[in-house]
Amino acid sequence: MKQPYPAKTFALGELDGLSETQISEHLKLYAGYVKNTNLLLEATPEQTELIRRFGFEFNGMRLHEYYFSQFEKREGSSDTLKTAIETQYRSFDAWKSEISAMALMRGIGWVLTIVDETNGNLLNVWVSDHELGQLGGQKIVFALDVWEHAYTVDYKPTERAKYVEAFWKNLNWQAVEERYA
Ligand SMILES: [Fe+2]
Repeated sequence: MKQPYPAKTFALGELDGLSETQISEHLKLYAGYVKNTNLLLEATPEQTELIRRFGFEFNGMRLHEYYFSQFEKREGSSDTLKTAIETQYRSFDAWKSEISAMALMRGIGWVLTIVDETNGNLLNVWVSDHELGQLGGQKIVFALDVWEHAYTVDYKPTERAKYVEAFWKNLNWQAVEERYA
């Protein structure tokens, strides 16, 4: 028997530009990914089509954990990742601009920053749905959800740019640094 995954809770205070309703609806969707991941852990060999969807459910669970924990308050003042970003992207703002530009592309999915531990490269990656385009064996340090469900309680579907702006405002950088450390 495999270990089931618990639905995590996140210590989220009041966010600026992301309402409590928006976040609670989003957390319900997260809980759905956890539930389905756990169901698929016990799928039978006859349920191959379900098993093939495992990456969708599992990453739907895991990426949301990265996402929500970035809004949690963290102590610390590490800037190791920031320095590495500045080295590889010329400036922190250049990295941020690339993320924002990717986030505004058409389609639903995620913008991730991963660290390739074979050489330290920090790569920005577009992932369609939750699983299409993930790079094998890479450590995720940053995750931005740009599915419409992430913002359409608070914003119109055409207002993704406003959501991305709100996301940056609420991002606790230390949560991202911790993953890199
Ligand atoms: Fe989401």
